[in-house]
Amino acid sequence: MLAVAVLAAGKGTRMKSDLPKVLQPLAGATLVERVLASCNGLAPERQILIVGHQAERVEHSLAHRSGLEFVLQQPQNGTGHAVQQLLKPLADFDGELLVLNGDVPLLREQTIADLLERHRSSGAAVTLLTARLSDPTGYGRVFADSDAEVSAIVEHRDCNEVQRTNNLINAGIYCFNWKQLAAVLPTLNANNDQGELYLTDTVAMLSPAMHLEVADAEEINGINDRYQLSQCEAVIQERLRRHWMAEGVSFVDPASCTLSDATRFGRDVVVEPQCHFRGNSVIGNGCRIGPGTLIDSAEIGDGVEIVYSVVREAVVASGCAIGPFAQLRPGADLGEGCRVGNFVEIKKSSLAAGCKVNHLSYIGDAELGVDVNVGAGTITANYDGVNKHRTVIGAGSKTGANSVLVAPIQLGENVTVGAGSTLTKDVPSGALALGRAKQLVKENWQLHA
Ligand code: UD1
Ligand code: MG
Repeated sequence: MLAVAVLAAGKGTRMKSDLPKVLQPLAGATLVERVLASCNGLAPERQILIVGHQAERVEHSLAHRSGLEFVLQQPQNGTGHAVQQLLKPLADFDGELLVLNGDVPLLREQTIADLLERHRSSGAAVTLLTARLSDPTGYGRVFADSDAEVSAIVEHRDCNEVQRTNNLINAGIYCFNWKQLAAVLPTLNANNDQGELYLTDTVAMLSPAMHLEVADAEEINGINDRYQLSQCEAVIQERLRRHWMAEGVSFVDPASCTLSDATRFGRDVVVEPQCHFRGNSVIGNGCRIGPGTLIDSAEIGDGVEIVYSVVREAVVASGCAIGPFAQLRPGADLGEGCRVGNFVEIKKSSLAAGCKVNHLSYIGDAELGVDVNVGAGTITANYDGVNKHRTVIGAGSKTGANSVLVAPIQLGENVTVGAGSTLTKDVPSGALALGRAKQLVKENWQLHA
């Protein structure tokens, strides 16, 4: 039997944030989501999250996960106190308890599986994960012999000068025999610099206590401040970029681009410098993205080019060319081969195949048929100050430069709108619509004093 407990009750004082530490995001997923994901494959019988600081907020963020139990730690009196809260809910449990720190988000599933395997085969009372760090500052130091048997863990702040030179650190990941741990948990004391109950103190009370050193120390990076958060972000970003390069994506300047876990790319995509992909974006084959582009939760077809633009919650079909300096907002839905040019904003509008909106336009709450050509500076006036209204433009229609289409309005097919028109009434198919003052010319006219 296996139970997993994730320690997530701490405030994260060193983050200096209103957000509980375990809800800080890394590449689009929170720390605690990442920690929980790292033991998905172990199929534990029980999965418990220990919450405390802003408990409701943490629970709410994980409400979609089934089978997760929440245990409240109030007040938060240290990691040992956190695990003491399990004495009741696990009173009848007999098996291994895997304890994971909620602020160690880079752990690989295989590493946890290895820890479990080592624990089971060695017959230890506790097996913990360790690493050798060139800079062990801040971590608890692990004192062990050459047979990997641990005698004690001493927190950085409780170490003397000599102890601090030990660079074998505690990763905050432990596998305990629950019954043995439960017997010593009530005896913890707070005789340390922080006046807290330390889970790490149980290690000296359990015998034998063993450790397993991770091969890749990067995996056990703990996050206590914003600098460490940025370091972990860098590691995840590098992992994601490497993954996608192996799948056929080229990055011209990889370090300048960021990805989310959920973004998917086709083959032969070229990502130019300074591009950022967020949410569950999907990028088709053969696209060229960037430079300088943000794509968030958007669906991009094949062979699309996007330059210096922002695309959010929008759909862009194959063969479109976007930008420079376009903004596709939520609900923009572009058919094949559309061209959206510079300083154009499109919101909640569908453009059928072959539409062109090349310069300086706002298209909102509109529906454009195939091959509509929107002239420079055309605006759909969709908002009357209270309500939003729709604009419909039929296939093959052309609007002249600087047209204003005051919605609700419907233009039929193959309509031509004269430049500078402000239209407030529907226009039938095949018509020319002009909505502007007639030009007046007075010859030989001079201003006299
Ligand atoms: C802890 C370990 C340290 C190890 C390091 C690895 C202890 C005493 N020290 O130190 O040996 O090197 O992790 O990253 O365990 N938490 C609670 N309730 C509390 C306090 C903390 O749930 O009362 C949670 C926090 O939310 C966090 C985790 O426990 O997820 C670790 O707490 P933190 O204060 O960051 O411990 P460290 O000082 O990093
Ligand atoms: Mg920590």
